[in-house]
Amino acid sequence: MTDFLRAYSIQQWLESAPQGYLEDTQYGHAAGEKEPAPLMENDALREQAIRSTVQLVVGERCALAASSGLINSAPDEGSKRFLATQTLDEARHVEVFTQRLVDLGVHRTKLEDVIRLHANPNLVKFAELLLEQVDKKDFIAGVVGQNVILEGMAFHVFEMLHAANKDLNPKFGHTLSGTIADERRHVGFGENRIGSWISQRPERKGDIERMQREMSYYMLATFADAFRDAPDQEEVNRLRSNMRRDAGQENPEWGGVDLAASSPEELEGVLADTVLREFKIRLERIGVEYQTPLRP
Ligand SMILES: [Fe+2]
Ligand SMILES: [Fe+2]
Repeated sequence: MTDFLRAYSIQQWLESAPQGYLEDTQYGHAAGEKEPAPLMENDALREQAIRSTVQLVVGERCALAASSGLINSAPDEGSKRFLATQTLDEARHVEVFTQRLVDLGVHRTKLEDVIRLHANPNLVKFAELLLEQVDKKDFIAGVVGQNVILEGMAFHVFEMLHAANKDLNPKFGHTLSGTIADERRHVGFGENRIGSWISQRPERKGDIERMQREMSYYMLATFADAFRDAPDQEEVNRLRSNMRRDAGQENPEWGGVDLAASSPEELEGVLADTVLREFKIRLERIGVEYQTPLRP
């Protein structure tokens, strides 16, 4: 077995994830961990947590549909088995973030209504673009869209959320850290596997570059909506600062900025710049030329 096949095998997945960092977790966190009381007792904080968790559910549902949909168009057996492990990872992500909505007080019978109400239309558009490639059985475009673009984005969003929440909300922090570990594996597969396929199909580069530019635009528009139009943002920031002060916690940092003291515009900028910088590096590694998207 080559190193590549071993690194992305079901055996390796079992040892590192279910029997490794996910062992003894319940819905991604330790048994008994709860959402913090100050969050549950304040409607602005709880609503904000529900809205942002809905976007995670929407993104993960897209990843579940894409990874499962790509299995039958994968060109080799090793990739099919890897995508089967990824399918289970993504289904788990959908489940843990849906469970968080329930933990935040969304009634199970109202889940679909709440998800529909808050789903960001630009994120929905982003997901549709990716799933179009999967439905066409376009494996190369599907894997670039999923394992480079969608997951490159998700990885940094999760990291930023993790930095902002790990002290304030250890339950959510733990759910995110297991998810980040899974996403690192998915991004690694994309990077290690696609380069050789693209070099054999140089005529596909143009389509893939166009898709990247379009998906990047919708990603930036999603970030713009999330940071610019967030209702009660000042109130939410003030309440989170109070929670931190009461617990004697330092302000969280990520990407070289103080997450608690920066304006929404600064936060949007640092997230967008981090993701686009990484896209550029990853795309170069697989032989695709990065296309600068319009700024929404
Ligand atoms: Fe995921
Ligand atoms: Fe993933």
